[in-house]
Amino acid sequence: MDTYPEESDAQHSEVTITRALPRHVAIIMDGNGRWATQHGLPRVFGHREGVKALKPIVKESARLGIEVLTVYAFSTENWTRPPAEVNTLMSLLEEFLHQETPELKAEGVCIKTIGNISALPEPAQRALAWAREETAKETRMVLNIALNYGGRDELVRAVNRWLSDPSVTSSGKRLDALTLERYLDTAGLPDPDLLIRSSGEIRLSNFLLWQLAYAEIYITDTLWPDFTAKELAQALYTYQQRDRRFGGIG
Ligand code: FPP
Repeated sequence: MDTYPEESDAQHSEVTITRALPRHVAIIMDGNGRWATQHGLPRVFGHREGVKALKPIVKESARLGIEVLTVYAFSTENWTRPPAEVNTLMSLLEEFLHQETPELKAEGVCIKTIGNISALPEPAQRALAWAREETAKETRMVLNIALNYGGRDELVRAVNRWLSDPSVTSSGKRLDALTLERYLDTAGLPDPDLLIRSSGEIRLSNFLLWQLAYAEIYITDTLWPDFTAKELAQALYTYQQRDRRFGGIG
């Protein structure tokens, strides 16, 4: 892996703006549990630190000019965790939205969600509806939070939405890729150019299975609570060294 030049933080940012930035960065914020264990704390403390780590990454992404930042906050499989951990994650989400939405709005961040939000607890749904509404007119960057999200679930919901569209059933149309994209939760957003996964795991974990088809992947051993804006710069720099061919010959 290319190593980011050891310079000042200001110079890090200068390097990353001299070449094309990814329009859309997606992050699997993994390693909260291990961070807590390493610090001799219960797992939920790792999630609390994970939320704290998110804010500077959102602000730095917006400052650099990234258009969309999608973060994997809760998967369709995360319901299998102990109820106390699930409840903590939902409470942290509400807390994050109530505390940070005004500042994110002031920074021009528009909050969106992907995933089956209707199955989340009512207070979390209300906080999300409020945050989305508050920031709906902001245009600097989209913070797209994946909640009760699974790539397979999204694809099945998209196909079912398409099937139940009256204009489809009456016309005998066949589904094509461009049409399917219009029914995905990410409709209207560009595909991620860069996927970042913390904590060293090398898998997709059911994240954006359709949309990541040609994303560049950056894996770091850093556990999510320790992930900083400097490491984001490292990921962006690494991305900028990649030769993207999209199946062609460049
Ligand atoms: C993976 O770490 C992380 C999660 C399942 C949740 C990610 C959530 C946050 C960072 C906070 C909530 C986000 C918002 C937007 C408020 P893990 O628990 O699987 O860690 P481990 O693999 O070390 O056990």
